[in-house]
Parts: sequence; C-alpha cells; structure tokens
Amino acid sequence: MSDISNGEQRPAMSDPLVFRNVLGHFPTGVVLITGIADDGEPVGMIVGSFTSVSLDPPLVAFLPTVASQTFKRLRTAQSFCVNVLAADQEDICRTFAGRAANKFDGVSWHPSPLGAPVLDGVVAFIDCTFESVSDAGDHHIVLGAVQELQVCSPVAPLLFFQGGYGRFAPLSLSAPFEADLITGVRLAERGRSEMDRLAELFDAECTAMAVISDQMAVNVAVTGSAPGAQDRLGERIPLMPPMGELCLAWEDDDAVDRWLSRALPSDECTPGEYRERLEAVRSRGWSMTMRGGYRDEQIFEALRDYSSGVYTPAQERNIREIISRTSSSYAPVILEEGRRYDVDSLLAPVFDEAGKVRLVLRIAGLPRQADAAAVLAWAEELLQAARKVGASLDPVRASA
Ligand SMILES: Cc1cc2nc3c(=O)[nH]c(=O)nc-3n(C[C@H](O)[C@H](O)[C@H](O)COP(=O)(O)O)c2cc1C
Repeated sequence: MSDISNGEQRPAMSDPLVFRNVLGHFPTGVVLITGIADDGEPVGMIVGSFTSVSLDPPLVAFLPTVASQTFKRLRTAQSFCVNVLAADQEDICRTFAGRAANKFDGVSWHPSPLGAPVLDGVVAFIDCTFESVSDAGDHHIVLGAVQELQVCSPVAPLLFFQGGYGRFAPLSLSAPFEADLITGVRLAERGRSEMDRLAELFDAECTAMAVISDQMAVNVAVTGSAPGAQDRLGERIPLMPPMGELCLAWEDDDAVDRWLSRALPSDECTPGEYRERLEAVRSRGWSMTMRGGYRDEQIFEALRDYSSGVYTPAQERNIREIISRTSSSYAPVILEEGRRYDVDSLLAPVFDEAGKVRLVLRIAGLPRQADAAAVLAWAEELLQAARKVGASLDPVRASA
C-alpha cells in the first residue's frame, strides 16, 4: 500500500484480485470469435476485450490470453469472425466460455463470407483476416482487417459487468422506480369505486394513469368490460410532446421546458404552440382526443414496445418518431354547439393536496358522433369523479 495525496491508501497494483475487481466495474459487450481451424473443425471463444480500432483502414481488435487453448487453434484459421451476442444468448456465451470439446454441438450456424461460423440469432458479425498478432503481457493483441460486416438482428446485445450478464436499458424515457409505481397503484386503488361507476355509467373503459416521474406515466388501473381493456394495464406513456399535456399543464416552467426538450425537431408543432396547448388544457381543466387522426395500430405498437421496457436506442428513436407524428391529432378542439364529434377519449387530472397532478382519469370507448352538449356533460361527470378521487388521496400520501 502507498499513500496518495488525499491521504487515502492506494491498493497494490500487483494484487490480481484488486485488478480484477476494479476492472470488473467497467462493463463490456460479449462477442464470440469463431473460425475454422486448420483441421477443418469450427472453433469459438468468448471475449469481452473486443474493440473497434480504426475506420480507415477498417480494423478491429481483441485480446486472447496467451494461455488460451482455443486461441492456439483459432490462430491456425485463415480468418476469424466476430459474432456480437444478443441479450438472450447467455446460454451460448456460457457454453463457449467453457472448455468442452464439442461446443458447436446443437448450435445452428452458417458460414460467413470468409467461411467462419455465424451463429443464428446474433446481433451482427464482423468478418476479418488476421492483420497482426502482438504480445501485451499475459495477453496477445490480435488486430483484424475487416473484410465483411453486417447487422443480422438489431436487438439489444448481451453485456457483462461485475461477473454477471445483463442488457442495455436507455436512461431517457426510462423505467420507473418500483416504489413510485406501487405508490401510483395505491393511489388508483382509492379511486376504484369512482372508476367503476364511470365505466358503468358510460358503458365505457375507464383507466387511471399515474404520473411516475417527469418522464413517464403508467396505466395503473382499468375498469370496464371493453375488449382488450385489461391490456391497457401497465401500459407506459412517455411524457414527451404531444403526450402528457394533462400531466404537465400545471407544472412549473422547468418541468415544461424538460418536456418540450423531448420533442423531436421533425415535430409539426412548435414549442410555442405546445405552450398554447398547455394553456388551453389548463383553462379548460380537462382534455380530449379525437378518433383516427393517426394510424392507431402504429402508435399502439410503439407504446407496446415502450411498455416492454426492452428496446435499443435505435428502437427508442423509432418510438419517439412515431409518437411525434401524432402531434396534430392532439390539437385542441373547440366545441361548437350543434356540431357532432367523434371523441376517442376524455381525460381529467386528479390533484393532490399540494395541487400536483398525481393521476389522470381517462374514459374511452364513448358513443360515436356525440353533439357538443353531450361531450360537455360527460366531461363534467368525469371532472366530478376526478375531484372525488383527489379528495381521497391524502390518507394514501400519508402512508406512501
Ligand atoms: C464475459 C467473458 C469475457 C471473456 N473475455 C476474454 C478475453 O477477452 N480474452 C480471453 O482470452 N478470454 C476471455 N474469456 C475467457 C474465454 O472465453 C474462455 O474461458 C476460454 O476461451 C476457454 O478457455 P480456453 O481458451 O483455454 O479453452 C472471457 C470469458 C467470459 C465469460
């Protein structure tokens, strides 16, 4: 041990356990390097030390230990192929990280353009010739010249961290903390009888959406017997324009700015227009969405993907793109006497004692082509229910 300037002790670098422990705090991807050895048999070894090296010329590298028996055989191959493992390929990883003689038994693969195995289900492959093999302590540095490469399946890759396996989860629009979700469920439970009453009154579906964080709301309760109603349970709604107006309308400028910052540049609506929408929602006190302004199936699929919590950054960009394209269908509608409206859903905020929106009640599956007076009457009924639910929240907040 030796002292460093702040007086803490620095562990000896020569201690392999310390070395492993500290380096284990750095996550890596997991690839399977394959090749056909000079005896014609396929070989494969798992490495976490794979990296991209150079774009021009295209070079990659990995570091096998000098003691590796598999690398001794791989080195006899004409080429090697980097298989980027998918998050669901942990079993493949464990098989190939072991020392069994017949690791390819029962594994489906096809030859890469240079002839090395590409396993079914991998995210991508990178086919290389050996550029050089140099020494670095107890490892070699193998430089590969990339000859062919392809994304096979753009799914989340397998990751390795502190001796365990995991998958990538984006931080943006991210998953809620479980505790916040449970608080939301408890709050909604307080409103269940009002929700049941509404569902019965309108013969419609009533959902309670809990505001989990400034990034997300989750459907925490559903009543009504509409087909597929229960599928809505657990659905997550990302708070990015145009979604979540009711959750944001009473928030401060900072929260609104954060919401607006999630809008895509391609959005038809400007930040100024979104602020006007929030103002309109605030003065009306409730909001509604109209039927059929966008392709429902596409948005439902995007929300399903988002709700699964398992998506790559590329998929997340796609989800955001689809949501962003719906902005015109959320434009505020001024109800005019004598006209008929095809309302998709009506929404009302449930405030807590401090004036914060904790839940949003939503009724959907209402009769088609209703006149303005009927829509206003429904909204008034919904608002009253929301007020009752709000009044019942305080004991929950005390215990939450
Ligand atoms: C996640 C993970 C990452 C690994 N990374 C490397 C690596 O970068 N270099 C290496 O030589 N072995 C690495 N290994 C170990 C080899 O996969 C494997 O144990 C070895 O090829 C089998 O031993 P053998 O080659 O002597 O038969 C890693 C293993 C795992 C599970």
